[in-house]
Amino acid sequence: MKLWQGRFSAPMSADADTFNESLSFDQKLYRADITASLAHAQMLGKCNIISEEESQAIQDGLQSILSDIESGVLKIENAEDIHSFVEENLVKRIGQTGKKLHTARSRNDQVATDFRLYARESCDKAISLIKALVEALVLRAKEGAKYLMPGFTHLRKAQPVSCGQYFNAYSEMFLRDLDRFAACRRRLNVMPLGSAALAGTSYPIDREITKELLGFDEISENSLDAVSDRDFVAEYLFAASLVMAHLSRLCEDTILYTSDEFGYWNIPDEYSTGSSIMPQKKNPDLPELVRGKTGRVYGHLTSILTVIKGLPLAYNKDLQEDKECFFDAEATLFSCVSIYTALIEKITINVNRMFEEAGGGFSTATDIADYLARKGMPFRDAHAVTGRLVQYCIKENKTLFRLSLKEFRTESELFEEDILSTVTPRASAEARDSVGGSSLNAVRRGVNAVRRRLKKF
Ligand code: ARG
Repeated sequence: MKLWQGRFSAPMSADADTFNESLSFDQKLYRADITASLAHAQMLGKCNIISEEESQAIQDGLQSILSDIESGVLKIENAEDIHSFVEENLVKRIGQTGKKLHTARSRNDQVATDFRLYARESCDKAISLIKALVEALVLRAKEGAKYLMPGFTHLRKAQPVSCGQYFNAYSEMFLRDLDRFAACRRRLNVMPLGSAALAGTSYPIDREITKELLGFDEISENSLDAVSDRDFVAEYLFAASLVMAHLSRLCEDTILYTSDEFGYWNIPDEYSTGSSIMPQKKNPDLPELVRGKTGRVYGHLTSILTVIKGLPLAYNKDLQEDKECFFDAEATLFSCVSIYTALIEKITINVNRMFEEAGGGFSTATDIADYLARKGMPFRDAHAVTGRLVQYCIKENKTLFRLSLKEFRTESELFEEDILSTVTPRASAEARDSVGGSSLNAVRRGVNAVRRRLKKF
């Protein structure tokens, strides 16, 4: 029987019922739903809208439903949605009194409240998983501070960087993500309960009581908005999308760096896959999958933005479409962040190979130009002189840091003995001691800065 059957003379047709239902997915909200109902029942009792005995009976009934669901005794089935399921079961257990639970409440403020409780927990989980990922990156950055690797722009070798600086770069991205989830959590922690269907309620409820019981920071100020606001879903999905964007960049690096062509990192066998036909293959399926799943999370963001667009005030059933995108994005996010934390912990880094490559591609050319500029040559001219030295190296099959002083001086008299120690990859990285730069000290300061900010979460 539907909660709303009274108005109708015929039962809903089976196909309409199947199309309309949300229990198959909103059952995930069972704990949030019961938690919110427990607070509501307590408030109804305290405000004498129902008697204290009735309130107690309802709370006991709800508790028994919760423990039976958690122990597996009670299967969630045969109802339109999780709210109907809980209420119908309550009436089965405690009789007529159960029917009083829905006083001064609508499923509209109920589902909005449940979903916020659920999303709040989900933000906390996201924060703890992303924190673990940053902790793994911090360890990598700490050990990698003293190692050099090529830094790229346009995927061409640009300048030597520190391996620690590389990992710190990803920590920065995920720190911003942590901040976004924390902000999302803060903004969503506003309680819609008490808004009823759309207009508020004529019962003498006390929303402060339910707010305190449910740990909300604030009470929604407008009932029309409260029952139809799903900004928090969009914000959550945007935060999740950016995490995926950052992960997908890390995936791309992983796929490149673990290729034979780069050879910077190895993924251990336990986290690799093979080919069914080519016996020699060791494939990076996990990073590829994470990269691929990014599109799926973006899709969910687009989906909720489209659902809320143009909705007339207040609640519309379209809003039932807010849940599946959230649940799938959440599960995808959690599994991707977790698997990448493991990968970051487990990859091995080929320090020597990266060091060799750090000096390739004339990556210290900028240091030569800077050297000349420091000696008074205008930078634009210094750039041109260095460009000619690069051309010379290409022609003679040499590297910049193996040129002799004589060879340097063919291009400019300003070169002196100290150019030979200026032009090495190590000197190049060490020269960049500015905040966030590649010198050992700058990278160590970077690691500490990441750690300090991580403590906030
Ligand atoms: N299953 C519904 C949802 O997820 C619950 C709210 C139903 N409200 C209504 N007026 N039909 O949005």
